[in-house]
Amino acid sequence: MTRARDVVGAWATRPPIRLAEADSTQTEARSLAEAGAPEGTVVSAEHQTRGRGRGGRRWVDEPGAALLMSIILRPAAEVSRLPQLSLVAAVAVAEAAGGETGLRIALDWPNDVLVGGRKVAGILAESFAARDGRVVVILGIGVNVNQRYFPPDLAERATALALECGHALDREKLLQAVLERLEAWYRRWMEEGFLPIREAWRRASATLGRRVTINEGVGGMALDLAEDGALLVKTDTGAVIRHVAGSAEGEQDAPRH
Ligand code: BTN
Repeated sequence: MTRARDVVGAWATRPPIRLAEADSTQTEARSLAEAGAPEGTVVSAEHQTRGRGRGGRRWVDEPGAALLMSIILRPAAEVSRLPQLSLVAAVAVAEAAGGETGLRIALDWPNDVLVGGRKVAGILAESFAARDGRVVVILGIGVNVNQRYFPPDLAERATALALECGHALDREKLLQAVLERLEAWYRRWMEEGFLPIREAWRRASATLGRRVTINEGVGGMALDLAEDGALLVKTDTGAVIRHVAGSAEGEQDAPRH
């Protein structure tokens, strides 16, 4: 995967707010943002009691084994571009995880991070309007790092980096790598737009060329990632439709393979 231009990372050098336990780092980060915390503020936790995933699902972790973090973004960008931030984060997480492990990391639209077809990380972007009217995005990232066991119903679909590379990983190093890559790609997105992210995402894609189900009863072939981040799907009737990941505020409605 092509790396975003390296920048002197301010986010990675500012210590995260570390919590032993949180209901959700998303909630903690939102409270901090409402109180005026600046862009790049990071909250991480050793364990979440009410971790949130996309689509109202729960995100369950093994205490002390995962990377659970939320970062405050205050993007000066059109609201219509905000769903792209999930893909920005996916590219950054894939690059960081690949760099730390040597594993081949793939991306499933819009923002699942996979190893060997199984999910190792997920991204949840939530937004709200600050008092000054500007939008704030809370970007949540959960990575299965050192988990050794998944319940049978999950084991087919989920894995952990340590299970895949055969040794435990330093979660702190991974956090720093994610922040460095995220800041680099985020700045590039702000300065150059979505196209560099699109190229990186397409190269790592596990979705394109595969059959996906985008809504109940509507399926088709994932053709490409559009220039704005929508997934282009050719349905069984031959029509090409755009599937837009929910706004950063709403939920990404991921297609099913
Ligand atoms: C998904 O794939 O459904 C997204 C999962 C996002 C999980 C992370 S863990 C850190 C942050 N806090 C949460 O409650 N959720 C996100």
